[in-house]
Amino acid sequence: MSETASTARAPVALLPSLAPLLHEWLPRRRWFAGKGKPVTGFALVSATELLPLSAAGPGLLHLLVRVQQPGPVTSSAPPGDCYQLLLGVCDTLPPRLSPALIGHVTRGPLAGRTVYEALQDPRLAALLLERLRSPGAIGPLSFHRTVAVPDGLTPRVLDAEQSNTSLVYGDAYILKIFRRIHPGANPDLELPLALARAGCARVPAPVAWFEAGTGPDGATLGVLQPYLRGSRDGWRLALDALAGGRDFVPEAHALGRATAEVHTALARALPTVTLARRQARDLAVAMSRRLDAATQAVPALMPYVPGLRAAFETVAALAEGGSTWRAQRVHGDLHLGQALRTPDGEWAVIDFEGEPSKPLAERRRPQPAVRDVAGILRSFDYAAHSHHPWHPEWAERCRDAYCSGYAEASGRDPRDEQALLRAYETDKAVYEVVYEARHRPDWLRVPMAAVRRLASPPGADPASPLSGRALSGRPGLSPDRRS
Ligand SMILES: Nc1ncnc2c1ncn2[C@@H]1O[C@H](COP(=O)(O)OP(=O)(O)OP(=O)(O)O)[C@@H](O)[C@H]1O
Ligand SMILES: [Mg+2]
Repeated sequence: MSETASTARAPVALLPSLAPLLHEWLPRRRWFAGKGKPVTGFALVSATELLPLSAAGPGLLHLLVRVQQPGPVTSSAPPGDCYQLLLGVCDTLPPRLSPALIGHVTRGPLAGRTVYEALQDPRLAALLLERLRSPGAIGPLSFHRTVAVPDGLTPRVLDAEQSNTSLVYGDAYILKIFRRIHPGANPDLELPLALARAGCARVPAPVAWFEAGTGPDGATLGVLQPYLRGSRDGWRLALDALAGGRDFVPEAHALGRATAEVHTALARALPTVTLARRQARDLAVAMSRRLDAATQAVPALMPYVPGLRAAFETVAALAEGGSTWRAQRVHGDLHLGQALRTPDGEWAVIDFEGEPSKPLAERRRPQPAVRDVAGILRSFDYAAHSHHPWHPEWAERCRDAYCSGYAEASGRDPRDEQALLRAYETDKAVYEVVYEARHRPDWLRVPMAAVRRLASPPGADPASPLSGRALSGRPGLSPDRRS
């Protein structure tokens, strides 16, 4: 994704028209990651007319815009985050589209015209699908597909609390439009493609996608996948089970199997590496540093620091003693909300983006599979805590069933990698403490309860009937945008 703008009509000239509107509109989008910091300017990375702006009807403008905000400047990347925008441009906005209004342009080449959110306009959303149906390039954008996609599918924007924007076409396909764009292949395309090629049916196989630029710098912009109609996510299902006084054991067991199938296929399809002394030490040091930063931010962690740090030091010590671990491509942000149960009772796994706040290179690095396991285990804990009265044993049964299912399908029981699993659960719980303290203080008790348990020595976990073999942490939904 080079920083040279390209389009049919002078793109830089568009900025005087659009910048005043974007100043108001962009920071209020829920997917805008730079909230709380002023926007000091914009730079156009690219501007592409997917439908001419000069025609009588609405035009469709595709933009990649770098948003300048105060912050640390690194030598490797231009300052500011790059966002993908799809703008409709028309003379008069029909009343039914008034909620999509971005603003009326007063300056520059688009003066007198009205700009609005193109994805809210079914005509323009349909046009985007048309582009995906016919592979080829338009300016810096290229469109690709693996199979034919039917036409005439009615689009609707998904009303989900998400960090990107998804459109459902005819309840048959879902198109995820990435909002924050990083140079390089997005794992949310790369991994589902690799899994599909490996014959793993646990992940909806990409049928089409589009990107900006080519080669290692090419950036994934959107992915079209089959829409799993009638599916429900694991978080909602777990809460329903708790509300109905039901166990979630069969579901957790099946989810463990599904996770293992995905991991096994990823390990076969993509490179794996061995984590030995240096890598394990680096991992432990990074976790320890995050603990230090978290303790600065949330001093309530202070009494637990020695116990928590012991989890990381154990991993480093095992590595010093010659232990090694296998690392492979993983999901990277697995929690119950990332698992969909289809009406026929099968689990599917979605959203392989990893943690969007981390650099792409880091997200694409091989990691121990128990990192994903730890994410789901934390998620069970969050679910259990969201119900009153709290049922710790509900989460214990889930984690046990999940690990058993995982072991059955893969031949590797995550509980046998206890030290690493504990380290990942601890790292996650520490992250959750900071997140909850900042954003949802009412939830702080959930990760703090986990911190108290994880800080006690393995096997001494008073709440764990599994002590000995023991998982001494608690599972949970990553406290990002759900619940
Ligand atoms: N293939 C699919 N079939 C049915 N629903 C889907 C599918 N893929 C995604 N969804 C729904 O769309 C929602 C958002 O998808 P996804 O998690 O990929 O978006 P995201 O922007 O990465 O979200 P987040 O900000 O939570 O990471 C999911 O929670 C799920 O409900
Ligand atoms: Mg995501």
